[in-house]
Amino acid sequence: MSSHITVVPASTQAGQETIRCLLKAKSKPSVRGIYRDPSKAPVEFTREPHFEAVQGDVATGAGLDFSNSVAVLYVPPPTYDGTDQGEFATRASSNVQNALQTAPSVKRLVLHSTMGAQYDHSIGMLRLNNIADRILKSAAPEVLIVKPGYYYENWLSALKSMKSEPPSFESPISPPDYHIPMVSVRDVGEYCADSLLDESTRPALRTVELFGPRLYSSLDVKRAIQEVNGKDGTLITIEKDKLVEFFARHVPKMYAQEFADMTTAMLPGGIMAGDFEPGENSVKGKLELGDVLRHMLSLI
Ligand SMILES: NC(=O)c1ccc[n+]([C@@H]2O[C@H](COP(=O)([O-])OP(=O)(O)OC[C@H]3O[C@@H](n4cnc5c(N)ncnc54)[C@H](OP(=O)(O)O)[C@@H]3O)[C@@H](O)[C@H]2O)c1
Repeated sequence: MSSHITVVPASTQAGQETIRCLLKAKSKPSVRGIYRDPSKAPVEFTREPHFEAVQGDVATGAGLDFSNSVAVLYVPPPTYDGTDQGEFATRASSNVQNALQTAPSVKRLVLHSTMGAQYDHSIGMLRLNNIADRILKSAAPEVLIVKPGYYYENWLSALKSMKSEPPSFESPISPPDYHIPMVSVRDVGEYCADSLLDESTRPALRTVELFGPRLYSSLDVKRAIQEVNGKDGTLITIEKDKLVEFFARHVPKMYAQEFADMTTAMLPGGIMAGDFEPGENSVKGKLELGDVLRHMLSLI
């Protein structure tokens, strides 16, 4: 596969990490990042001669130009603008599908999804990925659906509150010793970049689950933060019946129930709870939680 690659939206966490890896690749692919606001493209990307930031929006379909691209990464973004999450996911995925139809050069779509996206109910916010996967599963000659676990990077605010006085953090994952799949978005980006650059012919549809090197619990997160911070703190786990109230403090109120439902899907008794054993379509990332938290701390 020659090497013009498009990442959309480029400002997503996975999009950004994928671009970072692509720009370091020995084959020096040309990379086009599609941003709602191209001025948000970081200097570390824009100073590279083979990187181009262009304006486009999956919500409207404007600027989704995949011409001359051999591979595209799409990371379905959530919306917080008051639109129903399902309606938004349908519109955005259909816009991406239309853009792919007018770009015959695209041989492979790498579709960032999530663990649990195979369920069409009881997954809260993750229904945006269920919808995107359904709409786009045959939108290019090859489609690779990448399904990561919970990003380590979600613990940034915990890292910050464990630095303040008194050191503590809240976790929606309970009970405290309950383990779920977590992975660094840096490992996700590396996997997506390798998949975009892979020149071999692959089946029309593949699905891969991305785990970290092990499962982690809220207590593991507490221990890891304490180690990198060098001081002890308090873990406050949020009970299931308080999750809506908890998320209403962090996201626009109309989305709090869907965040609570997404979390409940992972907890004991939830629809995803039996899915945490890596299988034949699973890949384990290299990065440990503690190492990524240490790196995040160095950037605060
Ligand atoms: N977070 C996790 O732990 C996790 C784990 C597994 C899977 N996932 C999946 O990863 C995907 C990204 O989720 P995330 O919450 O982590 O988001 P994110 O990567 O933080 O990306 C959100 C960003 O998308 C950009 N965006 C571009 N066009 C947009 C549009 N039309 N409307 C809204 N936003 C737009 C926005 O950046 P600008 O404002 O700069 O345009 C926004 O900040 C989702 O499909 C999610 O289900 C997430």
